Amino acid sequence: MAISKKIAGFLASASWIRKMFEEGERLRAIYGADKVYDFTLGNPDVEPPAAFKEALKNAALHPVPGMHRYMSNAGYPETRAAVTSVLAEEHGLPFQAKHVVMTVGAGGGLNVVLKTLLDEGDEVIVLAPYFVEYKFYVDNHGGRVVEVRTGPDFQPDLEALAAAITPRTRAVIINSPNNPTGVVYGENCLNEMGRLLEARGLALGRTIYLISDEPYAKIVYDGIQVPSVFRAYRSSIVVTSHSKDLALPGERIGYIAVHPQMEDVDLLVEGLVFCNRTLGFVNAPALMQRLVAGLQREKVDIDAYREKRDLLYNTLVEFGFDVVRPQGAFYLFPRSPLPDDVEFVRTAQKYNVLVVPGSGFGLPGYFRVSYCINKQVIINARPALEALARELGMIK
Ligand SMILES: Cc1ncc(COP(=O)(O)O)c(C=O)c1O
Repeated sequence: MAISKKIAGFLASASWIRKMFEEGERLRAIYGADKVYDFTLGNPDVEPPAAFKEALKNAALHPVPGMHRYMSNAGYPETRAAVTSVLAEEHGLPFQAKHVVMTVGAGGGLNVVLKTLLDEGDEVIVLAPYFVEYKFYVDNHGGRVVEVRTGPDFQPDLEALAAAITPRTRAVIINSPNNPTGVVYGENCLNEMGRLLEARGLALGRTIYLISDEPYAKIVYDGIQVPSVFRAYRSSIVVTSHSKDLALPGERIGYIAVHPQMEDVDLLVEGLVFCNRTLGFVNAPALMQRLVAGLQREKVDIDAYREKRDLLYNTLVEFGFDVVRPQGAFYLFPRSPLPDDVEFVRTAQKYNVLVVPGSGFGLPGYFRVSYCINKQVIINARPALEALARELGMIK
């Protein structure tokens, strides 16, 4: 066989999102694109802010000699300084450029962090439902995923988290605003989580790192702000990107920021920079680093997302779906009206409605609906959603 047994196994348990994408292609070929209501992808449909295009034009018109060469594996000092000056202001902590490593998106950043932290067999706790790639990222670096279910409204269940910690626990990954639920974790909850990890780490004689995956941090609604993990826990590492907030997922630009007062912070950063290099990323894309340095306070049009959230949430509730109203990201995670979420997803397909089963995120019994799509798709999907709800006896 051309590929390893392990990868063959991963392929066989294929990603639901990819499966649904293929199903969408099949349905679009039969019915036409405007008759298929595809809520499966997390690829922003909005354009980057105008300031990004200006910065790009400017970089092309006024090239700096050497701007396409290798640089420090951590990234340009000016970019790291620009990132940390905003972080220092937002979190009220003494960040310096040395506390940031520029990465190939959040996905690249998570791999760098896990490579740096994990010994073979170390455990990494993830809170279900979760971004499915975590499983593969942890496996990439010899770790073992331990799943812990979230509690009511998809907030972390701290008792369950405490019960899952063992002498092999090395890190906990959280993601807020969350993919797939859209939920933002509360400040009290993060503070308590910080106290829990501190106490358990002390008792076990080893630091338990909190890795906060935050690519949706700026995509929040209703005037809320994402609470700071840095203020909640000293051994925290934020991994983020501009894939969503500047709508640049194809450009692969993000960063890792470590708590400036963490124990052994310089050694940790040295490890991160080494792993950024030796995983073959070498450094984050040079041109993007130049551009995002001046865009740290920019973001895409959040109102457009909020409008779509409201439209889709209201439609689903009207048709009898049980769904937590999300305050961030661009996903909804309703309860499946059928006990088997895969069966529900297949039933929805009959109406050309494409959604992803909760099983694909480690939480069967739910399904994910993504609304980073054209608003017209949500409007056009209304009769199909209504017919689906009628078939399932949710409305008369
Ligand atoms: C929760 C979460 N983490 C990480 C990523 C990866 O983002 P990036 O494009 O920055 O690698 C995504 C992408 O959808 C995501 O939803």
